[in-house]
Amino acid sequence: MNTNYETILFEVENEIATITVNRPKALNALSHQVHSEINALLKEFMEANKDFTIAKGMILTGAEEKAFIAGADIKEMTLMSADEAEAFARLGQDNTLLFELLNIPVIACVNGYALGGGCEMAMSCDFIFATKTAVFGQPEVKLGLIPGFGGTQRLSKLVGRNRAKEITYSGRNVAIEEAKEIGLVVSVFESKEEMIEAAKVYLSKAMRNSPHAIYEAKRVMNEGNDLTITDGLNVEAKAFGAIFNSADMREGTAAFVEKRKPVFIGK
Ligand code: CAA
Repeated sequence: MNTNYETILFEVENEIATITVNRPKALNALSHQVHSEINALLKEFMEANKDFTIAKGMILTGAEEKAFIAGADIKEMTLMSADEAEAFARLGQDNTLLFELLNIPVIACVNGYALGGGCEMAMSCDFIFATKTAVFGQPEVKLGLIPGFGGTQRLSKLVGRNRAKEITYSGRNVAIEEAKEIGLVVSVFESKEEMIEAAKVYLSKAMRNSPHAIYEAKRVMNEGNDLTITDGLNVEAKAFGAIFNSADMREGTAAFVEKRKPVFIGK
């Protein structure tokens, strides 16, 4: 895989892939280049990791102590036409969809500011770990803008529409205590190091389970998020049936009956 990017870092260790947004001088702001590089990386990764041969879990984080991602690049946006801005939003949205479509769990590890596009990128991951210094928000209206990388849609689904509106109209910061209370963040850590280590421990434990089953659970849960309960249950029933054709399901249930540890192959 190509790992040679200018604005992001990519590494794989012990079957855990880490993407680090790396523009510290701009607090990791999402320029067109950052989004293009993430897009190219995720597409190549998805193709190469179909059989979980590269990684079984992923972390998205920022290179800065002060910021996860301080939003879309405001300086770049001052020069954009309406058409260019729509294309920019679509590119950023595509990346959020790619995180949702990835066949492995993705944890956003947030330290410092996760504002605007930063909050939006974090919300497209499967869940968010954060340090005590993390600050979330959708401050776009302060710039005469609206969220453009999914924030008008995902924040409502995560914290409820009315709380999402209240946060978005004010553009206010959401400190870590509140972020935890409203369910935006699942776990809080003292330091970035402790958070990254905890994410790795979580993913290492999860990857002992069937990667195929985790992917199916992720797919069905994400699809169901956009459906009525009846349609969502239908998707679940079909996936539940289909998984009985998987080697991992046969192995997992047989191992239970035979009182041994299962050996999953991700199929
Ligand atoms: N875009 C471009 N550059 C940014 C940036 C951004 N979103 N956020 C920070 N930077 C740059 C600053 O311009 C500054 O660069 P210079 O030294 O060259 O001037 C550098 O990063 C450090 O930032 P500050 O000096 O401002 O640092 P601070 O500690 O005083 O403040 C902050 C930190 C509160 C996060 C502040 O930088 C800030 O408010 N940033 C903008 C946050 C924001 O509004 N994000 C939403 C963007 S719009 C969006 O995301 C739209 C969308 O949904 C698609």
